[in-house]
Amino acid sequence: MGERPTLETERLILRPFRATDAAEVRRLAGDPEIASTTLNIPHPYEPGMAETWIATHQPGHEEGRLVNFAVTRREGGSLLGAVGLVVSPAHARAELGYWIGREHWNQGYATEAARAVVRHGFEALGLNRVVAHHFSRNPASGRVLEKAGMLREGRLPQHVRKSDAGPFEDLEIYGVLAGHTATGKNPPVSPRRRGHARDP
Ligand SMILES: CC(C)(COP(=O)(O)OP(=O)(O)OC[C@H]1O[C@@H](n2cnc3c(N)ncnc32)[C@H](O)[C@@H]1OP(=O)(O)O)[C@@H](O)C(=O)NCCC(=O)NCCS
Repeated sequence: MGERPTLETERLILRPFRATDAAEVRRLAGDPEIASTTLNIPHPYEPGMAETWIATHQPGHEEGRLVNFAVTRREGGSLLGAVGLVVSPAHARAELGYWIGREHWNQGYATEAARAVVRHGFEALGLNRVVAHHFSRNPASGRVLEKAGMLREGRLPQHVRKSDAGPFEDLEIYGVLAGHTATGKNPPVSPRRRGHARDP
């Protein structure tokens, strides 16, 4: 595998994380609102966690399992958040994930980043399918996925819990197949479920 990729969009540069991003990652991802709606981000976000996480990116890239991008503003270069794919090479499939620092919400950054990464997954990585999950109580993430051309495929009742003591929580699953991103159209999961594909 070569160098980790960099993608450009209208307002953003999606580049590999560097060790020097760790303090800002900790500041942004350390917000309890980020931990609340992500499965793998803990709270409190302890010192050293960002460094450890960033150090997994190069080996993950070399093994073809991970593509993580720092979401940075084209103008000024500030770090806004993270977006990435966890790849299952055997199935040419990946799971999309992202977070944006709270001070930057609702400006379309997650959507812009997600669109670029989904396109990268199909065009550069040759994926057949991209999926994403979000907590049912996190509708903003569902909007991001819809705006990125993905379709809601269903709900997974009580599928996860954030911690051992926490409640079991429902997830929504979204997906898109290669060749279907431009229009946002996607074949239904089955004819029976066609009517549910765009339920709120
Ligand atoms: C989810 C998250 C990534 C969205 O980032 P963002 O940059 O604000 O997203 P965008 O601006 O591209 O789009 C947000 C959309 O959600 C909508 N939205 C925001 N809050 C909402 C709410 N409570 N209910 C419904 N829609 C909501 C916005 O209006 C916008 O949609 P619109 O363009 O149709 O108006 C961000 O809130 C975040 O990082 N949350 C914490 C981590 C997380 O949940 N990550 C996703 C895990 S699946």
